[in-house]
Amino acid sequence: MATVPGHSAPPVFDAWIQALEARHLADLRFSEVTRALRALSSVYVERRQGGLNKALDSAGKRAAFALFYGPLHFITTYSIVRAIGAGAGARRIMDLGCGTGAAGAAWALAADAPAITGIDRHPWAVAEARWTYEALGLRGSARRDDLTRLPPTGQGDAVLAAFLLNELADAARVALFRRLLDEARRGAQVLIVEPISLRVSPWWRDAASEMAAAGGRADEWRFAVDLPDRVRLLDKAAGLDHRELTARSLYCPGAAG
Ligand SMILES: C[S@@+](CC[C@H](N)C(=O)[O-])C[C@H]1O[C@@H](n2cnc3c(N)ncnc32)[C@H](O)[C@@H]1O
Repeated sequence: MATVPGHSAPPVFDAWIQALEARHLADLRFSEVTRALRALSSVYVERRQGGLNKALDSAGKRAAFALFYGPLHFITTYSIVRAIGAGAGARRIMDLGCGTGAAGAAWALAADAPAITGIDRHPWAVAEARWTYEALGLRGSARRDDLTRLPPTGQGDAVLAAFLLNELADAARVALFRRLLDEARRGAQVLIVEPISLRVSPWWRDAASEMAAAGGRADEWRFAVDLPDRVRLLDKAAGLDHRELTARSLYCPGAAG
């Protein structure tokens, strides 16, 4: 897997990063966010039980998630979408497990989609996603709901599951993946983005074969990126190293293919 340059973020990205800093560093010191980022990262790396509910149990971890992982997920998704041309003609991005809304917003901006809907069961995430859409100048809404109640989608919809499937228990992940394949067959564009380690996603190979059989593609990515200053400082201070961003994706163009 070769390293390729990540796609430059859109002009509104820098203003969003500044607004994120003002929002999340107003009541917390940088060192507090760094400490929280270390704890949050170990939740991710060790795949502790409890998912994001547990990961977001303090103001510091919420700030770290918004300020650090939000921009990383934005840059990763933006670069993938630009590299494969996903989202052409989409009238709406449906961002499942939207978190702070960063990944879905990246797809909406990269594909010039006129609207975005975020769905997440975590109330803090929903509020944060609404703020993200506004800060990035997107026409968007976010609502609190469980993914099992995903409304039907179709042609004109682009459905995103970013850094979500590996968070779900096996049965829930299988059910959601089946549903996403059905939506793709009905004409929706479907994009799944996941971390690259097979330990985190042992189910990946089968999912990739099924996506290929449905007319989709599977890719692995390694992007060289120039992180915003504050994100780079957090990365270093927390003992992480994200000068390159890696991810894997499954994409089905639906009726757009
Ligand atoms: C790791 S975060 C990823 C957030 C976002 N997609 C991103 O790329 O930054 C996973 C999100 O999925 C949400 N989630 C997990 N299970 C869910 C479910 N059954 N219904 C709705 N949201 C769920 C969590 O609350 C969390 O915000």
